[in-house]
Amino acid sequence: MKNILITGGCGFIGSAFIRFLFLESDFSGKIVNVDKLTYAGNPYNVADIIEKFPKRYTFIKADICDHIAMSKIFEDFQIDTICHFAAESHVDRSIVEPDSFIQTNIIGTFNLLELVKKSKNRFVLFHHISTDEVYGSLGESGYFTEDTPYRPNSPYSASKAASDHLVRAYHKTYDIPVTISNCSNNYGPFHFPEKLIPLIILNALEEKPLPVYGDGKNIRDWLYVEDHCRAIWAIMKYGARGGTYNIGGCCEMSNIDVVSIICDIIDEIILPKNRRKLITFVKDRPGHDRRYAIDSSKLCNELGWAPKESFNTGIRKTIKWYIENKEWIAQVKSGEYMSWVNKHYNFK
Ligand code: NAD
Ligand code: TYD
Repeated sequence: MKNILITGGCGFIGSAFIRFLFLESDFSGKIVNVDKLTYAGNPYNVADIIEKFPKRYTFIKADICDHIAMSKIFEDFQIDTICHFAAESHVDRSIVEPDSFIQTNIIGTFNLLELVKKSKNRFVLFHHISTDEVYGSLGESGYFTEDTPYRPNSPYSASKAASDHLVRAYHKTYDIPVTISNCSNNYGPFHFPEKLIPLIILNALEEKPLPVYGDGKNIRDWLYVEDHCRAIWAIMKYGARGGTYNIGGCCEMSNIDVVSIICDIIDEIILPKNRRKLITFVKDRPGHDRRYAIDSSKLCNELGWAPKESFNTGIRKTIKWYIENKEWIAQVKSGEYMSWVNKHYNFK
């Protein structure tokens, strides 16, 4: 893996992975980051990398659906590996406006696979980043394993499921070397504040209402983003080609517990203001999956990975980062996202 194309490297997880590869891993090659810079893409997320590694890092603003642009990048940089993060990633947006999810998540992935097919001889690996949401929803017990049948319930998870199938099919049909990872809900620094954890942290800091969907008892498994990055790199290096790996944080929590813990930690480190009183139950999300829980034992047993952060340590690091990075918050809030969130929740 000498010349890695990272798609969506200005988003939350993609930017964390670029920082991880340069600052924490044994990777010594070059990275080309291709990102369309949608509302969720922020080049500032990798600003330190541009300064520190100008010869090994290139950013190109492009759409993965643009076959001509992607083909040129592929040849100009002699790409031999792809780590594919680029996606529309927010379930609520997919319910309101699914079109871009179909385009980017399905057509975009197909486009990349077609490029790989054409330069198969030099190609080392296509690693596809996916989600546990492709497996649907669990009852009170049980876990998603790599053998759980796909049952996606939202336009987002259906589009990710379609992309997973395409990646697997290109491996079987054209012998493209691929790996796929399906992870649980990530959290950590640089997370765009439309998802639960960053939205709640920012609103709690500003003493605004904290929207909790339905009864707040939906359960998610929370994975600290740096633990996720270590897992991706382990799979890219040592994972079985054609294989799928589930990645979870060993950390199942109900939404109301997550929100309450964030309130208590902010009360503790800023000023006790009983922020729990800001919790506002709002109309439930249509088709809201009740519970996700991941069995990561394949990854742990085969590749020796384990999460390092507990929810307590990870959420404290995350809250501290949001408190210390007001400039990033101001920059992100001045964008399109605020008007969408305000409209969606009818907040003033
Ligand atoms: P994100 O929304 O923060 O970032 C997505 C990035 O992709 C943005 O920088 C955006 O500009 C870019 N992008 C979107 N459309 C593009 C296009 N057509 N061409 C090029 N770039 C484009 O998402 P994230 O949270 O960092 O998620 C990254 C990947 O991980 C996604 O594939 C997502 O499905 C998957 N995932 C995320 C989570 C999570 O909890 N965040 C959990 C499971 C899986
Ligand atoms: P989210 O961060 O959107 O991730 P996903 O839908 O991919 O799991 O939501 C996490 C959980 O939090 C999910 O059960 C929906 C819920 N939720 C709220 O209760 N309030 C919110 O404002 C948001 C964004 C999510």
